Amino acid sequence: MEKALVAGQWTRARSGATFDVIDPATGQKIAAVPDLGADEVNLAIAAAYRAQKPWAKVTAKDRASSLRTFYDLIVANADDLAIILTAEMGKPLQEAKTEVLYGAAYVEWFAEQAKRIDGDVIPSYQLDKRIFVVKRPVGVVGAITPWNFPSAMLARKLAPALAVGCSLVAKPAAQTPLSALALGVLAERAGLPPGVFNIVTSTDAAMVGSTLCASELVKKISFTGSTNVGRILMRQGADQIKKLSLELGGNAPFIVFDDADLEAAVEGAVAAKFRNAGQTCVSANRIYVQSGIYDTFAEKFSRRVSRLRVGNGFAEGSELGPLIDANAVKKVNAHLENALSLGARVTVGGEPNRASEQFFLPTVLVNVTSEMTIAREETFGPLAPLFSFDTEEEVIAMANDTEFGLAGYFYSRDLGRIFRVAEELETGMVGINTGQISSEMAPFGGIKQSGLGREGSKYGADDYLDIKYVCLSVG
Ligand code: SIN
Repeated sequence: MEKALVAGQWTRARSGATFDVIDPATGQKIAAVPDLGADEVNLAIAAAYRAQKPWAKVTAKDRASSLRTFYDLIVANADDLAIILTAEMGKPLQEAKTEVLYGAAYVEWFAEQAKRIDGDVIPSYQLDKRIFVVKRPVGVVGAITPWNFPSAMLARKLAPALAVGCSLVAKPAAQTPLSALALGVLAERAGLPPGVFNIVTSTDAAMVGSTLCASELVKKISFTGSTNVGRILMRQGADQIKKLSLELGGNAPFIVFDDADLEAAVEGAVAAKFRNAGQTCVSANRIYVQSGIYDTFAEKFSRRVSRLRVGNGFAEGSELGPLIDANAVKKVNAHLENALSLGARVTVGGEPNRASEQFFLPTVLVNVTSEMTIAREETFGPLAPLFSFDTEEEVIAMANDTEFGLAGYFYSRDLGRIFRVAEELETGMVGINTGQISSEMAPFGGIKQSGLGREGSKYGADDYLDIKYVCLSVG
């Protein structure tokens, strides 16, 4: 596992360079993986190119069957994959297993979808012509995945790509390459042909991104990560009009109206805010509570948050693990300090854990206002700011006052309001009376500067397909 997967071979860097993978909970080295350069990335691209056409010629039924075997192997090895994930990323073991199975569900789903890439026959504009529509795989895909879901985010790119007959060069985040490499081992055991799924490990994300974008052989980039890097990839892909799927930053509003079931809203807010210690792009970043219930909600929510258990992901009962690195802790602190300096108040938490600064205590802030940094920037940590609002109109304006548009959540029991607010929120996904919306069966993705394209669901394969119109003259 301490090698990269290039052209069906487990390989070291030609230079011999490696980089360390660190357990964020302990700061200890757990592995070293090859630090590949541009030459090796190009070798992986060339291998993916050679492998793609034969793979596209495998029948959909047989591709589906290979993916199904891959899915079965992921499920059978879920406990080990979860241990690897917790060791490199820090999330609690049970949550890691949930992530592994969440990723596996995309593989299962797209194994099923592989057989349903249907075309069309369209009524013709002339009696002597017939119009057909067929769908073709785009070709080689560059997949760049983040550290916060090192298993699931890769699975949800590789599954649709492989299902429709594309091949893949995947670049996992430097902090968390081991989950990707473990999936590579299982893909090999599932019998996926060499070169169809390559994994390039590197500390130089910019080099890998620009090499993928510069290659004429790579037809599409699928990226999950920050909006800034998404912009760079878009610019770099512009010369070749490279196809892009971008799943970028969010700044999710979570609105609690005064007609909501408060207990359910508290649980939903905990789920939407503290999953993965707040390190998800769909985390509730701004919690808006209607003024009449603000104090009651703040009190119930703070009490619930004070019961969350923080600790090493391998420790029994841990609900929040460490943040990924020192920069992540710094960012949460900066948002906290800024809010406090402008008049916010901590009701629970509010500091890095004394035992280790990498663990930030789950924190609730009250008296938060839209002038604070936390209202505009994604915190990516366990800091829950409570804003107050008076009217539905006001809160919709506040919720939409951001360049991001990934997820939004609200709690209400008023049917008219449920439809109005769901329609008005400028986000690609809306959770109503729930803080948990992710599923392989639903289209995951954003609008505005949160991205392009959708992952999962019946729409998820489209991002990996070209539509070809065939016109037949029947003479
Ligand atoms: C992400 O944070 O990028 C993905 C979260 C999810 O799939 O629920």
